[in-house]
Amino acid sequence: MERVVGGGALPFILTGVGVLLLYRIFVRLRQGASVQGAVVVITGASSGLGKECARVFHAAGARLVLCGRDAARLQQVVQELAARPTGSQQQQMFTPSTVVFDLAKADMVDRAAEEILKCYGQVDVLINNAGISYRGNILDTHISVQRDVMETNYFGPIALTQALLPSMVQRRSGHIVVISSIQGKIAIPYRSAYAASKHAIQAYFDCLRAEVECFRIPVTVVSPGYIQTNLSLNAVTADGSTYGVMDKSTATGWDPRDVAHAVLKAVRRRSKDVVLAGPLPSVAIYLRTLWPALFFKIMASRARKERKPKTE
Ligand SMILES: NC(=O)c1ccc[n+]([C@@H]2O[C@H](COP(=O)([O-])OP(=O)(O)OC[C@H]3O[C@@H](n4cnc5c(N)ncnc54)[C@H](OP(=O)(O)O)[C@@H]3O)[C@@H](O)[C@H]2O)c1
Repeated sequence: MERVVGGGALPFILTGVGVLLLYRIFVRLRQGASVQGAVVVITGASSGLGKECARVFHAAGARLVLCGRDAARLQQVVQELAARPTGSQQQQMFTPSTVVFDLAKADMVDRAAEEILKCYGQVDVLINNAGISYRGNILDTHISVQRDVMETNYFGPIALTQALLPSMVQRRSGHIVVISSIQGKIAIPYRSAYAASKHAIQAYFDCLRAEVECFRIPVTVVSPGYIQTNLSLNAVTADGSTYGVMDKSTATGWDPRDVAHAVLKAVRRRSKDVVLAGPLPSVAIYLRTLWPALFFKIMASRARKERKPKTE
């Protein structure tokens, strides 16, 4: 015997199905595009934020190419990822590839880009994350230290971007991300090399965003505040030696997992400029534009308080 749905129930069922479909579309739009199967290249993947990005993008089903200077540390990250429980049952997980090179050595970057392209034949997302920080007084800092920081934080990432860009343009597909810093928006004393490199990278990628929009290649600049990583420990000082101190601001900064999730969200939504900052740095960014005289006064007072005895 045939079962007939009563005429009164049908509109309710159809409305229910419609609401469910609209809800799914809303959730999909909020989440943005999936990175399942996307080829994601992460520089500085051996530690800190880069390593967390590797975990987050791996869990989202991306095919990773992890970059750094130390092959053994990168392999350790690969093994950690391979040992992690996989995502949902339908989701395929991929074993990451690695490419070892020094971003500060111009002659290595082009070859590294070729190696990166050989891994999967294409790059869908390039995350320029690797970087080095600096602590020092300009008066004591040799110009070679300023240049070295610029090589790692500016010339290296832009050289890699320019080497991978033609393949993205050819495919009319790809996404370029750079991890800048709040110090790419405002400059604070005793951080000249770092702040200058991050300001430079912000400007370069703002230009690039405009130039490659016609090829449907989004450019995302992420500017976080302090993150709990080894960045201050690894920072260089005025004479080029390693700073080796875990600053309180870094130790009490953002959880790198939260920043990595914010990077994933920015990639999915194709965001253009993401600032991850608490109220104070956010106000400082506006102050620098709207009331520069006050901003400069505050920075001069901060410089006086932090001045090292050597230069007094
Ligand atoms: N931590 C913070 O407070 C903070 C705040 C805002 C923005 N950021 C930015 O976040 C990014 C990641 O830094 P992090 O905090 O995760 O610091 P980190 O733990 O010191 O990691 C830095 C990474 O960069 C790589 N790297 C450094 N110099 C390199 C070079 N010449 N060539 C290739 N790779 C190099 C390192 O890899 P190997 O040493 O293994 O080569 C390491 O994986 C940086 O761009 C940093 O400026 C950090």
